[in-house]
Amino acid sequence: MAGQARDPQSLLREAAAIASLAPSIHNTQPWQWLVHEHDTELYADRTRQLLATDPDGRSLTLSCGVALQHAQVALRAAGYLPDVVRLPDPEDGDLLARVRLGGATAPSAECVRDYQSMLIRHMDRRPFADQPPSDEALRQLTAAADAGGAHLHLVRPEQVTTVTMAVGRAGELERAEPAYQRELHDWTHRDLDSGEGLPAGVLPEPAARRVPIRDFAPDQDAALPDEPELADRYARYAVLYGDRDDPAHWLRGGEALGSVLLTVVRLGLAVSPYSDPIEVLATRQLIAREVLAGLGAPYLVLRLGVASPEQPPRARTGRRPVADTVVPVPRD
Ligand SMILES: Cc1cc2nc3c(=O)[nH]c(=O)nc-3n(C[C@H](O)[C@H](O)[C@H](O)COP(=O)(O)O)c2cc1C
Repeated sequence: MAGQARDPQSLLREAAAIASLAPSIHNTQPWQWLVHEHDTELYADRTRQLLATDPDGRSLTLSCGVALQHAQVALRAAGYLPDVVRLPDPEDGDLLARVRLGGATAPSAECVRDYQSMLIRHMDRRPFADQPPSDEALRQLTAAADAGGAHLHLVRPEQVTTVTMAVGRAGELERAEPAYQRELHDWTHRDLDSGEGLPAGVLPEPAARRVPIRDFAPDQDAALPDEPELADRYARYAVLYGDRDDPAHWLRGGEALGSVLLTVVRLGLAVSPYSDPIEVLATRQLIAREVLAGLGAPYLVLRLGVASPEQPPRARTGRRPVADTVVPVPRD
């Protein structure tokens, strides 16, 4: 499959197109690829930034980082080593990466499997089965984060209440913000075939959980029983973190997240993220202090577990037309 003799521009275009399967905050897909004859440039699309929810652009940059990791997997699977320069232009922070084809290489079995995982990966917000992920699986997930350029801290059982508190407090503060509410409403009320956002069919039925997921429908009454049994009793939680809280590290954090998510698929596990406790300064600091204990800057919380066969399936999120996000630049 080593791919000499293929036109670099078409290979780079295919890789960028596959990268659009990457996850993104509220499925905003805040990226644009300019595909030149010999390289492709990944830009942050600031018109799609959630200015109230994600004013720093942390989640936007993490999302683009996953897209960058997916593009690299696609190039390796096509038989090329990706040659990536991150943030190549000090004058333009929105140019997140420039990618060229490095040498030809036979794709490894692992890489081909990662490529296939990209095609089926999705977030699963449904309550998990009563079965914990194995210690070995969790070890492989932390190794994937390390290899990807960031780290994963497995939340210890005695730290879960802190995560629950952080999520609860972040939700209260965000729901009190009209601009946050408007963004949430905007991105959760698009048609399923619009190819963006989180239409209702994607989101799970309300459930009482140990660590509640983001309330995507705060104007609807969840109508839960008075003393419901808590779902996700066997879920494990993890914090994706890095050495610094800046765009260069968020980009690497996104690449690490991509590796973790593809490893989740390989291990047959399920995952969904929580960015709400990171979006709010006070709860981000709480997680940094009480959960990470100074290990680094938190980027995202993950809920990890085993999918329950008893839960009804949910619709998959769509994607924007590739022509909107991958723009070939004609030769001069
Ligand atoms: C940086 C980032 C933050 C996210 N935050 C949340 C979140 O707080 N709650 C949630 O349920 N999903 C969250 N998601 C998941 C996205 O909503 C999801 O990836 C997107 O809708 C695309 O769906 P898919 O991943 O199933 O393809 C986040 C994803 C990313 C990459």
